[in-house]
Formats: sequence, C-alpha cells, structure tokens
Amino acid sequence: MKFLTRRKALNAIHGVDVSRRLKPTLSWPHLVALGIGAIIGTGIYTLTGIGAERAGPAVILAFAACGALCIFAALTYAEMATAIPAAGSAYTYAYSVLGEGVAWIIGWSLILEYSVTCSAVAVGWSGYMTGLLTSTGIHLPVVILAGPDDGGFINLPAVLIVAAVTALLARGARESATVNIFLVAIKITALVAFVCLTVSAIRPEHFTPFMPYGFTSHTTNGETKGVMAAAAIVFFAFFGFDAVSTSAEEVKNPRRDLTIGIIGSMVVSTIVYMAVAACAVGAWPYTEFARSGEPLAFILRSLNHPFAAFAVGAAAVIALPSVILVMMFGQTRVFFVMARDGLLPHWLSRLSGERRAPLNITLIVGTFVAIIGGMFRLDQIAELSNAGTLLAFISVAVCVMVLRISNPNLSRPFRCPAVWVVAPLSVIGCAYFMSSLPPMTLVRFAIWNAVGVTVYLAYGRRKSHLAAKPLVLDKVDVIEAEFGS
Ligand code: ALA
Repeated sequence: MKFLTRRKALNAIHGVDVSRRLKPTLSWPHLVALGIGAIIGTGIYTLTGIGAERAGPAVILAFAACGALCIFAALTYAEMATAIPAAGSAYTYAYSVLGEGVAWIIGWSLILEYSVTCSAVAVGWSGYMTGLLTSTGIHLPVVILAGPDDGGFINLPAVLIVAAVTALLARGARESATVNIFLVAIKITALVAFVCLTVSAIRPEHFTPFMPYGFTSHTTNGETKGVMAAAAIVFFAFFGFDAVSTSAEEVKNPRRDLTIGIIGSMVVSTIVYMAVAACAVGAWPYTEFARSGEPLAFILRSLNHPFAAFAVGAAAVIALPSVILVMMFGQTRVFFVMARDGLLPHWLSRLSGERRAPLNITLIVGTFVAIIGGMFRLDQIAELSNAGTLLAFISVAVCVMVLRISNPNLSRPFRCPAVWVVAPLSVIGCAYFMSSLPPMTLVRFAIWNAVGVTVYLAYGRRKSHLAAKPLVLDKVDVIEAEFGS
C-alpha cells in the first residue's frame, strides 16, 4: 500500500520534460477574465430558480452561505496556487502534499468539477437558447431538446454548443482567453441590466414567509428542501475561480497574477450574485419562476420588459459558452498533468501545433462533455459536479495546513490569513454542504469514486512515473527560470 502515499518532491514539481511544457502566455487580466468567465454562468442564470424552489426567498441566504464558504476556499487556493505554481490545481497540490492515492481521487473528482460542469452549463445554455427560439416563433420538438430522463431523446443544442467550444479550445489557450474577455463583458452587462430593471419592482411581501422550508437540508417524498439544500445546489454558481489555478503553468508571472486572478474574480462575482438574487426574489414571486429553464428572462418578461428579456436571453446564449470554455480548459490541463505523471496514458499529454495545445485530450474531453450534456438533467449533473468540487476544496484546505507544518519555510508569495481558522472552517463548511446534497447524489458520487479507485488500481498504480523511475530533473533550471523563481 506504499504506492498510495508516494509524493512528488516539492522542489521537483516542475521537473518535467521541457518538450511537454505548456507555453506561458497569460497575465492577470486574462486570469480575472478566466475566473469570472468560469464563475458567472448557469448557476445564477438558471439554478437561481431551483434554489428558490428549495429555500423560498431565503435562497438569498443560500447565496450568502456559498459566498462565505468560497471566499475561505479561495484563500486556501490562492496560497497553494502561488506556493506550487504548476498546472493541475488540487490534483497537483494533493500529489505533492498528501500522496498519490489522494491525488488520484482528487483528480477523478476534478472530472466532475470540470467536465460535468461543462455539461451542466451546456444544458442551461440549451434552456436559454430554446426560450430565445420560442420567443421568435421557432418551436423545436422536445425529443431533441432534452435527455431521456427529462422526456426527450437527446439535448441537441447542448451537444452542439460543446462541439463549438471544443473546436475553439483546440486552437490554443491565447485565442480562447481573448475571446473569453468579450464574453465576460456581455455576461456582466446583462446581469447589471437585470438588476437595474428589477430593483424598482421589489415588493416586501415577496419576502414573506422568508424561510418556508427551514434552514437545514431535509428530504421528504424524494424532495430535498431547506436553505442548505438550496445552498448545496446554488454552490454550483460560485465555483470556477479555481480554474484560474489550473492555468498556473501558462502564466507569465504566477506569483502576482494568480493572487489577483483568484481573489479578484471571486469578489466581483460574489457582489454581482447577491444583487441579482435579491432582485429576482424581491421582484417576482419565486413560485412562478422556480421551474423556468430561463428564470431571469422569465422575470423580465413578467415585469413587462420583453425586449430586455430577449436581450438577457441573448446575452446568456452568447456568453454562457465562456464558462464551458474555461472549465474545459481546466479539465484538459488537469488530464494533461495526470498523463504526464503516468497516471493516465502518456499519449494524452502530447502537444500539437505552434501553440503547443494538448489536442488529444481536448477532443476526448469534448466528446465526454457532449455525451453527458446530451443525456442528463441539469439538477442531477449540477449536484454531482458540486460533490466533486467540494471534495477538491476540502483537499486543498487540508494541503495548506499539512504544508504549513511539513514545510514551514517554503516560499509562499500569498499566505492565507488566519490559516488555522480559515482552512478548518473551509473543510467543515464543505463537508456540511456535501451532507446537504440529496442522498441520491451522494450515492452516485460514491459509485463514481469506486470506479475511479478501480481504474487507478488497474492502471495508474503501476504506470505512475513515481513507480517506474525518478522524475526527470535535468531541465529544472530552464523551467524554474521560466517561472521566475
Ligand atoms: N459557476 C459556474 C456556473 O454557474 C460553473 O455556470
């Protein structure tokens, strides 16, 4: 069982074959845009409705709880991302601090966080796209608008948007990040417009009863309700900032840029969310928009703003793909590092083209994301992706604490403030959120991990570079020079 605890040496974390290094092309404005691009998406645009159904107007508290938790998590992420500025995010941190066994489980969970999230966002996008088409008189048959679980056969719009984003990403990180900046601007403008148009319609009576289903999560007759039940699903709206840390290897000045990228994108998004959630619940009775596939457009239409409803729907259609873009980017980089470490087949980490993009992985991830998005229901996949993300957040907070003890003198350009309060609260908070998910989601998550452990025992355990040979260290000086350390 020793293989489970073998670790990458911290000073060798960049000790990789230089021909398999990603090219550093990004700086902090790209990263803030990457972060916001990943954070603001289907969560606020669509899951606000499902959250309100579970918590009533107190969905605002659910958003607040998520924001608080994610700020703790963001602080721990920032410390790890700047202490170990290498691609791979929580997987890489776990590999060097907690060992290969935990690293594999986290890498496997990141598939939920990145790939399954892309699928969920694609389904949310499909909802707004369908609404937009319907408002222009085009009615498509449900058989091509939803998966088998939702009364259809395949969610074709979701599949098509994933195909388009995959093609864009395959062209290389720089173009994708630049396109992303424009999409982020559109997305934020639409949300600000939503707030401006709804704020005057807020009525105090829409807030009573404020917490009709209580605070804690409870399941009756198959329905999970309560503020925490809502928090466990709208949590989806908050994560994404960690996608920034997965691009560490492609950042020109990781120490400064990552800190600004992660914390900056988190703070901006949290402020925007609070405003949108309060306006949505205050302006229109939540019971009426809870089930809508495009709740923000629905509210605007109900308030007699048909043009604004159309514009917000159009903005969602144009801009939600930026979330898919960023999360898929994150996934390809995590897989890339896992393959480079030997835990996945090596041919996956081959780079192609002038931009040295990992083309093989991009195509495989795109196919996987399209299949899940085409087949499953939004709430199911969003919850599963939350479970994977919460586990990754827990591991990062644990890594921060373990590393503070095991390597107190390691250079940490960003130090998490009050680490012995923030990191344990992050662990406890994430565990509480996870326990608030519907029981069925937890069962699915356990099955997912059982499959992951089987794959590891059958492949990665034997093929790991730490099993076969020591890390290639001869290029360390070149690489460290590139990182400026
Ligand atoms: N936070 C991202 C979204 O809401 C995943 O779409």
